[in-house]
Amino acid sequence: MKILGSAAGGGFPQWNCNYRLSRAARARAPGIRPRLQSSLAASGGDDRGWVLFNASPDIRQQINETPELQPAADAPSRSTPIRAVVLTNADVDHLAGLLSLRERQAFHLYATPRVLGVLEANPIFRVLDPALVRRVPVLLDRPFAIEGPQGEAGLTAELFAVPGKVALFLETGRRAQDFEADPEDTVGVRLTDADGRSVFYVPGCARVDPVLRARVEGGDVLLFDGTVFRDDEMAEAGVGSKTGRRMGHQPITGEDGSLDAWTGVGVARRIFVHINNTNPILDEASPERRLVEAGGWEVAFDGMEIAL
Ligand code: MLT
Ligand code: MN
Repeated sequence: MKILGSAAGGGFPQWNCNYRLSRAARARAPGIRPRLQSSLAASGGDDRGWVLFNASPDIRQQINETPELQPAADAPSRSTPIRAVVLTNADVDHLAGLLSLRERQAFHLYATPRVLGVLEANPIFRVLDPALVRRVPVLLDRPFAIEGPQGEAGLTAELFAVPGKVALFLETGRRAQDFEADPEDTVGVRLTDADGRSVFYVPGCARVDPVLRARVEGGDVLLFDGTVFRDDEMAEAGVGSKTGRRMGHQPITGEDGSLDAWTGVGVARRIFVHINNTNPILDEASPERRLVEAGGWEVAFDGMEIAL
């Protein structure tokens, strides 16, 4: 697996963000790495190609920076090792990259019926010719072999509901309707290999509940929502009024923070992904970074490789 983008929506630095962290990232300050928007690539073996988990607005740059995702030297004049894309929700940072994959290239697109419905309702996604890009609805809690146009990609995945909310641009403004209106709005992915080892990819999660803890218990790698360190850090930074929870992201710390919520769950590696440009863990020298590392967490960076 390779982390293609470890930042949340907006990336790091974000185009219009003048907070100290984005400023430091722009200035290439030591220990503060820029990051692209949220995406993970996984390969089930040398000749099996790659599967993308979420297609970020930065996908073109992500492919340009990742030789494994580029056409092979001896491949036909139109070619890609990307066999499939799996979406975990309909947020802009997770699906806008689909528009950049439009050059008449075949691949399979997997998501819940609910998320596929969002694509269906937006005619711009017809740039992905249905004759080439097969949209495959995925039922929750049913493991399936990911396939591309050439057959199986060598990865078994399972989508499962996590506490979350509809995409920001689909919010109605009525809190109860925006949160947990449909279990298919926000999902996590479990990837398993032939030996039963598993990786959990959960870039968005409003709350770590007992069901999620039990599911992840015994897993090998957990890639989890690290959007904000403190629930109110965006307001503190002067960049907005929304809390992490209001955005459907459980903060790392505070009452009911994810750091505590995951304590005691047996998982060999735990890694924060989808990190917002206000999160102080982006600064490798910060006390907040030391705190999460002391708690056994790693902080994802672009290009990070994870082998099972
Ligand atoms: C989120 O993760 O909360 C979304 O990506 C926000 C957005 O769409 O900008
Ligand atoms: Mn996001």
